[in-house]
Amino acid sequence: MRLFSTTPLLHLLILSCLFSHVHPLCHPDESAALLELKDSFIIRQNASVDPLAYPKVASWSSKEKDDCCSWDGVECDEHNSHSLNLAHNDFNGSLIPYQLSHLPSLTYLDLSDSIFAGQIPLEISQLSNLSFLDLSQNQLELKRPDFSTFVRNLSKIKYLSLSYVDISSPVPSFLANFSSLTSLRLEHCGLYGEFPIDIFQLPNLQFLVLTKNTNLTGSFPEFHAECGFHGPLPSSLSRLSNLQLLELGRNAFSGTVDFNMFLNMKNLTIFGLSGNMLSVLIRENRTTISTNATLPKFKILSLGSCNLTTFPGFLRHQYGLTRLDLSNNSMHGKVPKWIWNTSIEILDIHDNFCTGFSIDVLPSMSLRYLDFSRNSFMGALPIPPPSTNYFDGSKNELSGEIS
Ligand SMILES: *[C@@H]1O[C@H](CO)[C@@H](O)[C@H](O)[C@H]1NC(C)=O
Ligand SMILES: *[C@@H]1O[C@H](CO)[C@@H](O)[C@H](O)[C@H]1NC(C)=O
Ligand SMILES: *[C@@H]1O[C@H](CO)[C@@H](O)[C@H](O)[C@H]1NC(C)=O
Ligand SMILES: *[C@@H]1O[C@H](CO)[C@@H](O)[C@H](O)[C@H]1NC(C)=O
Ligand SMILES: *[C@@H]1O[C@H](CO)[C@@H](O)[C@H](O)[C@H]1NC(C)=O
Ligand SMILES: *[C@@H]1O[C@H](CO)[C@@H](O)[C@H](O)[C@H]1NC(C)=O
Ligand SMILES: *[C@@H]1O[C@H](CO)[C@@H](O)[C@H](O)[C@H]1NC(C)=O
Ligand SMILES: *[C@@H]1O[C@H](CO)[C@@H](O)[C@H](O)[C@H]1NC(C)=O
Ligand SMILES: *[C@@H]1O[C@H](CO)[C@@H](O)[C@H](O)[C@H]1NC(C)=O
Ligand SMILES: *[C@@H]1O[C@H](CO)[C@@H](O)[C@H](O)[C@H]1NC(C)=O
Ligand SMILES: *[C@@H]1O[C@H](CO)[C@@H](O)[C@H](O)[C@H]1NC(C)=O
Ligand SMILES: *[C@@H]1O[C@H](CO)[C@@H](O)[C@H](O)[C@H]1NC(C)=O
Repeated sequence: MRLFSTTPLLHLLILSCLFSHVHPLCHPDESAALLELKDSFIIRQNASVDPLAYPKVASWSSKEKDDCCSWDGVECDEHNSHSLNLAHNDFNGSLIPYQLSHLPSLTYLDLSDSIFAGQIPLEISQLSNLSFLDLSQNQLELKRPDFSTFVRNLSKIKYLSLSYVDISSPVPSFLANFSSLTSLRLEHCGLYGEFPIDIFQLPNLQFLVLTKNTNLTGSFPEFHAECGFHGPLPSSLSRLSNLQLLELGRNAFSGTVDFNMFLNMKNLTIFGLSGNMLSVLIRENRTTISTNATLPKFKILSLGSCNLTTFPGFLRHQYGLTRLDLSNNSMHGKVPKWIWNTSIEILDIHDNFCTGFSIDVLPSMSLRYLDFSRNSFMGALPIPPPSTNYFDGSKNELSGEIS
C-alpha cells in the first residue's frame, strides 16, 4: 500500500488505487465510482489559503475513463488494494458519501478533519478490508448504526480513530478479538459503561486513547485523562510491552503502585500518572540507575501528586527527557545536578519540600518552563538560562537580590 504524506491542504484530493495488472489500467467500475465521488463534491477553488493547493478532481473526466490511473492524485499498481485520503478538506458539513462502499477493496480511508457531519453511513462498515480508518475531528455521529454494529465486520482493522465522533454508547467487548489493532483512538466520544478489560490484552496495541469520556468506567485504566476510572492499577498492564504512550492522569486510581512494572515497558516514552490518589513506589537499585540499564527512554514523564519522597534516581540517564512533572509530592533535599544532563524543557516541581538546585546558575540549554514554587528553597534566587519563558519561584525561603 502506498501512502501519501502531505501537508494539510484544503481541497487537495489524494487517492491511491492499486490494481492487479502488470501495466495497471483502471477498471471501468473503478473510474465510474471515482467520477460518482467527484460529482458528489462542490469544489470551491479558493477554499485553501495555501497557494499550492488545487482541486485534484477537476481534471478527472469520463473521456479518460479507461485509465483513471493517469488521473491526478490517483496511483495504481499491481496490488489489489486501494487507499483514499481526503483528510483536511472542507466538506462544509456534508454527509460522508455512502458511495464509498463502491470501493470494496479500500484498505485505507482517512476522512479526518474535513468538516463532514451527520450519521456515519452503515455502508462504510461494509469495507471489510479496511486496515486504517480515521473519521476523527469532524461533526459526525455513530448512533444508527451504533458503534457495535458499525465495527463488527471491520475485523482487519489496525488503526481506528473515531475521536470526536458522537458515539454515546458502551465500548463493544468483541473489540478485544480484533487482534490486528495497533491503535484505537476514541477521544471525546461520549462513551459510557464499563471499558472491556480484555482490550488491554491485545498483543499489538500501541496506542489507546480514551481521553474525555467522563462516563466511561472500569477498574482498569484508561489512557488519557478525564475518565471515571477508579481502583488499583492492575499489574497486567506491564504485559502491554509495546506501549509507547500511557496516560492515566486525572482519574481516581488509588493505592500503591510499584513503578518497576512500568520500567519493564521498554517502548514507553510518554507516561503520566499525575492527579490520582496513588502512592508511587520507586524501588531504585544499582541496575536501574546505571548507564547501561535497558529502561524505557522517557520523553515526557508526569508523576505529580504521587506521594514521592525523593527525586527519582532512575532519571539520571534519561537524556531524552524533555518534560518532567513531579509537582505536589513530598520530595526533600536538593534537586540533583544530573537533571541538567537531560533535555529538560519543562520542569514542574511545585509543592514539594526541596531546598535548592545544587547549583546557582542553571546550565540547561533548553529549559523553557520552570516552576519550583511552594518549596523550601533557601538562599539566592537560582538564575535560569536565557531560553526560559516561564519562571515561578514564589512561596519559598529565598533571600538576597534578584540577579
Ligand atoms: C471565494 O470565492 C467566492 C466566490 O466564488 C467568494 O464569495 C468568497 O468570498 C471567496 N473566499 C475567499 C476566502 O476568498
Ligand atoms: C456551506 O453550508 C452552508 C450551510 O449549510 C451553506 O449556506 C453554504 O452555501 C455552503 N457553502 C458551500 C460552498 O457550499
Ligand atoms: C480483501 O482482502 C482479501 C485478502 O487480502 C482479498 O483476497 C480480497 O480480494 C479483498 N477484497 C476486496 C473486495 O478487495
Ligand atoms: C457483517 O458481515 C456479515 C457476514 O458477511 C453480514 O451478514 C452482515 O450484514 C455484515 N454487517 C454489516 C453491518 O455490514
Ligand atoms: C472472541 O472470539 C472467540 C473465538 O472466536 C469467541 O469465543 C469469543 O466469544 C469472542 N469474544 C467476544 C467478546 O466477542
Ligand atoms: C454522564 O452521565 C450523566 C448522567 O447520566 C449525564 O447527565 C451526562 O450528560 C453524561 N456526560 C456525558 C459527557 O455524556
Ligand atoms: C519496541 O522496541 C523494540 C526495541 O527497541 C523494537 O524492536 C520494537 O519494534 C518496538 N516496538 C514497537 C511497537 O515500536
Ligand atoms: C532492579 O530493578 C529492575 C527494574 O524493575 C529489575 O528489572 C531488576 O531485576 C532489579 N534488579 C535487582 C538486582 O533487584
Ligand atoms: C504516602 O506514603 C506514606 C508512606 O510513605 C503513607 O503513610 C501515606 O499513607 C501515603 N499517602 C497517600 C495519600 O497514599
Ligand atoms: C553495564 O556496565 C557495567 C560497568 O559500568 C558493566 O560491568 C556491565 O557488564 C554492563 N552491563 C551490561 C548488560 O552491559
Ligand atoms: C496534592 O496531593 C494531595 C495528596 O497527596 C491531594 O489531596 C491534593 O489534591 C493535591 N493537590 C493538587 C493541587 O493536586
Ligand atoms: C553529565 O554528563 C556528563 C557527560 O556525560 C558527565 O561527565 C557528568 O558527570 C554528568 N553530570 C552529572 C551530574 O551526572
